[in-house]
Amino acid sequence: MGESKMTTNVDKGRFGPWAVVTGASSGLGREFARQLAHSGINLVLVARRGDELEAVGVDLRRMYGVDYRVIVADLSRREAVDTVVSGTADLDVGLLVSNAGAGRPGNFLAFCSDDLTEIVQLNALSHTVLTNHFSKRFKARGGGATLLVSAMGGDSGIPYNAIAAATKGLINTLGKSLHAELKAFGVGITVVVVSPTETPIIDKMGLRAAPMPIKPMRVDQCVAEALEGLKRNRMMVLPGRLYRIMNALMPQSVMRSMTGRMMRRSSVFLS
Ligand SMILES: NC(=O)c1ccc[n+]([C@@H]2O[C@H](COP(=O)([O-])OP(=O)(O)OC[C@H]3O[C@@H](n4cnc5c(N)ncnc54)[C@H](OP(=O)(O)O)[C@@H]3O)[C@@H](O)[C@H]2O)c1
Repeated sequence: MGESKMTTNVDKGRFGPWAVVTGASSGLGREFARQLAHSGINLVLVARRGDELEAVGVDLRRMYGVDYRVIVADLSRREAVDTVVSGTADLDVGLLVSNAGAGRPGNFLAFCSDDLTEIVQLNALSHTVLTNHFSKRFKARGGGATLLVSAMGGDSGIPYNAIAAATKGLINTLGKSLHAELKAFGVGITVVVVSPTETPIIDKMGLRAAPMPIKPMRVDQCVAEALEGLKRNRMMVLPGRLYRIMNALMPQSVMRSMTGRMMRRSSVFLS
């Protein structure tokens, strides 16, 4: 943290004084926390690795003078959402960045029902329940917004990453539906559809070994573009010009076979 990075400032009066960021211990969530702290917003940092969250919080307090709170929660477990709800009850929260998530590369038929339940809970149900909870709070306080982090392939599908792609499809549909529904209450919601971005997830999914459809983008750029969309209460944001062009021109069938090839060649299948 600290060197020259793209940063989007947001209005602390509108999205603060506190923001909740799930998956704040690395990658996009960590960068969301940094850019929000740059605007003077206090952070609730949520993930499983408390020591990493603590290190992020200490850094943000030192660099930007913001306050932080760490909530350790495994969002692949149903009860974790209650931990986030009770851990934020006394704070005036103006923004939820619902970002925690993972891929689940592999042959669908090799998974058992526990694997599937876990990823659906993490990537879809936790986001849905947190969005419901915080949107009610935003309505009651007269404003606030949610940023839902989705993924390329959520609409087209991704062979060999089928269940994770399906959860992102749910996020897309949820966000699009709620964008109209919540507007009447002055409550915002924006879906950010992330294409390959330089975070640890690339290695976790074994994608270094695979041909990527586009070169992974910088994490600060991805987050800065997402926050620009949030400020404008855009329904969907697709960070990265190349990805926007690809998304506009490429039929979903081509996108599906391309991402399927990429997954098939991931190192997960080489071992
Ligand atoms: N980077 C990309 O290329 C890309 C592309 C498309 C979509 N996305 C989406 O972007 C979001 C962020 O991913 P990232 O790229 O930043 O990857 P990342 O660096 O692996 O970060 C994932 C974050 O989610 C947290 N997390 C994972 N499992 C969790 C669990 N069970 N409970 C609570 N927190 C959990 C991790 O923290 P702990 O391990 O400490 O729990 C970490 O903070 C995800 O939703 C991902 O699907 C990323």
